[in-house]
Amino acid sequence: KKIFVLNGPNLNLLGKRQPEIYGHDTLADVEAKLREIAGAEGHEISFHQSNHEGEIVDTIHKARLEGCGVIINPAAYTHTSVAIRDALLTCEMPIFEVHISNVHAREAFRHHSYVSDIATAVIAGLGIEGYNAAMRRLLQLL
Ligand code: DQA
Repeated sequence: KKIFVLNGPNLNLLGKRQPEIYGHDTLADVEAKLREIAGAEGHEISFHQSNHEGEIVDTIHKARLEGCGVIINPAAYTHTSVAIRDALLTCEMPIFEVHISNVHAREAFRHHSYVSDIATAVIAGLGIEGYNAAMRRLLQLL
């Protein structure tokens, strides 16, 4: 089974988008590092990014069947999506919520997450290192 890494809207622009908040590394850099960390332990990754809520729901359904763990940065859908929450609730596996920025130090609407209370762990504010930390912990749990 694979580790699913899911990224929500606008994260395709990582590295170009508000670099003062999200840094200069790209999503391809994130993917390469995660493949290196997981690969060293013999785990395969299924890496995704989508700007479409329903597509993310569909990928979570795939993770439900083919995955052994989920690392998700739902981006703006964190704060709005009951559908993504409900999809994650169908997955009987560890779920890590990652945010590059410290959402709690930003606008009030970013303080609430539909995912946090159903996640195994929540990481915010570590930059893209947050994905690596989530992966290392997930590998310990598997
Ligand atoms: C984000 C934080 C969200 O509030 C925002 O909408 C994003 C990225 C982060 O990684 O810091 O798009 O999830």
